[in-house]
Amino acid sequence: MLTTIEHDLSQLFGQAFADNDLSFDFGATVRCTRPELGDFQCNGAMAAAKQGAGNPFVAAEKVVASLADNDIIKNIEVVRPGFINIFVNEEYLANKLTTFSKDNTFGSAEDLSNTKVMIDFGGPNVAKSMHVGHLRTAIIGDSLQRIFRFKGYEVVSDAHLGDWGTQMGMLIEGLKKRQPDLPYFDENFEGEYPKESPVTIQDLETIYPEESGLCKTDEEAAEKARQATLELQNGRPGYRALWKHFVEVSIATLKRDYGELGVTFDLWKGESDADPFIPLVLKELEEKNISVKDQGALIVPITDDEGEKVMPPLILRKSDGAVMYGTTDIATLYERIHEDKADIVLYVVDGRQQQHFKQVFATADLMGMDKVCTYEHTYFGTVNGKDGKPFKTRSGGVMKLHDLIQMAKEEARKKLAESNFGVDFDEAEKEEIAHKVAISTLKFADLRNFRIKDYIFDLEKFSEFEGKTGPYLLMQVARIKSILRKAKEIGAEPGELLETSDNERALTFKLLEFNSALNKTVEKRAPHFLCEHLYNLAQEFSSFYQKQHILKEADTAKRASLLKLSSICLNQLEVGLELLGIETLERM
Ligand code: ARG
Repeated sequence: MLTTIEHDLSQLFGQAFADNDLSFDFGATVRCTRPELGDFQCNGAMAAAKQGAGNPFVAAEKVVASLADNDIIKNIEVVRPGFINIFVNEEYLANKLTTFSKDNTFGSAEDLSNTKVMIDFGGPNVAKSMHVGHLRTAIIGDSLQRIFRFKGYEVVSDAHLGDWGTQMGMLIEGLKKRQPDLPYFDENFEGEYPKESPVTIQDLETIYPEESGLCKTDEEAAEKARQATLELQNGRPGYRALWKHFVEVSIATLKRDYGELGVTFDLWKGESDADPFIPLVLKELEEKNISVKDQGALIVPITDDEGEKVMPPLILRKSDGAVMYGTTDIATLYERIHEDKADIVLYVVDGRQQQHFKQVFATADLMGMDKVCTYEHTYFGTVNGKDGKPFKTRSGGVMKLHDLIQMAKEEARKKLAESNFGVDFDEAEKEEIAHKVAISTLKFADLRNFRIKDYIFDLEKFSEFEGKTGPYLLMQVARIKSILRKAKEIGAEPGELLETSDNERALTFKLLEFNSALNKTVEKRAPHFLCEHLYNLAQEFSSFYQKQHILKEADTAKRASLLKLSSICLNQLEVGLELLGIETLERM
């Protein structure tokens, strides 16, 4: 991994402190908040003084006097009460940037291929359309899978379909009422799968809400649905065959929506895949005296160290014998650990499921799974409307993901038409631009906030070409591409990086901050750090370009160097946006 300037300087200063019998850690160096005073600053002398090192100014001077010979520092100054301000060498900076830009990971990748990270995200439910809640898990989960892979981990992502709960029994009973003659309902069904599906996604989407509504008021219907679910779980052949159709028909539609978002999964597994592991888990829980019987149900009490109950128990099996969401989650974790050999499992799931994951993880801890695996609920907040309540359609219904994407496209078309972008492009290119702008709008607006925060959905604001938005970043990328194209037309190509002059300094430093932004993103599983970096980088490029007329530069070596700097910046923006799942445009 390529070291940052902060790191190089901290080492150098750490040694100087140590040579003065002070702690190495005082050498920590950070970017200077006031660029006119220095590029970096070390405040260790003040901290050392607090711990009895005497006058900070004197200590700082001593440290500076004992600095080892180096090629990093150009100028250094000690100012009262004991700040050390540092300007770095132009040549060192150019060299650093040259090495840094040699590979597409900017020296940030490590060999982490023996750490397997499984990311559980998406979690759409069979027969139900994805709604706005599924937007966040898709966007954040996808970005995290890209980032972890880029960093060097082995990553496996799983869509983890909700395909094993009572909604399955509702669908079976609902269909039975409508088409009682289907062979699947025959107790002696032996038919083969695959066969043509007896239902379309539209059928499922009509049956499900009707049945689920009915079950809320009609106890007999609810009982039938529970019974059918249980029989399905117990392996009744006709129900299993039918269920496979439900799942396949649903996956086809889900793939359309994920396709529009550009989100893919390695595995299209579901809650049902944990089924073979349920008996194993239940046996272990019983043998280890973790599970207890409670009024006919099987549960795991969740207690603190003193044995006090801290939240409701995890229900493993209801009194009718059906297994629950928590049971499949424990069994899935068991499978991920024992079969897939996962080292880390991240659950990118709504924060409103925090209690569920606490129960599941507490149970897993009791089973000792925490000894071999790290599991985390990488949760996210709610997308709210302007009224501060969860985002709904105008009529107050659930906002479907598909419709939301169409709305974003509509807004992008409108904004593009209002601006003078792409006026002379043909229809196909305009459509491609609208699509990519729309996806960048949704993704960036979501990822730019720390994931655990709620945010207010304001499509108009998110679609602006100004400010911290996806479209702004796409525009900056297209702009640099256009500069490079124009340069080519006059025969100018990126060349060797020369010593940086003042105009390029801030941009160079910003580029070199990529690694720390990426590392923070990985550490906190939070892409907003990367978003912030890319936005600042784009802005830094803007101010660089304002000061420095690249194409008018008469000195050709200098011009080639400036073009090189621009192309590194372009590359970093594109790589970074790709990590957010955002596709860029050649022109707009
Ligand atoms: N299907 C669930 C839902 O829509 C989300 C599943 C999340 N993943 C998990 N392993 N529990 O609420």
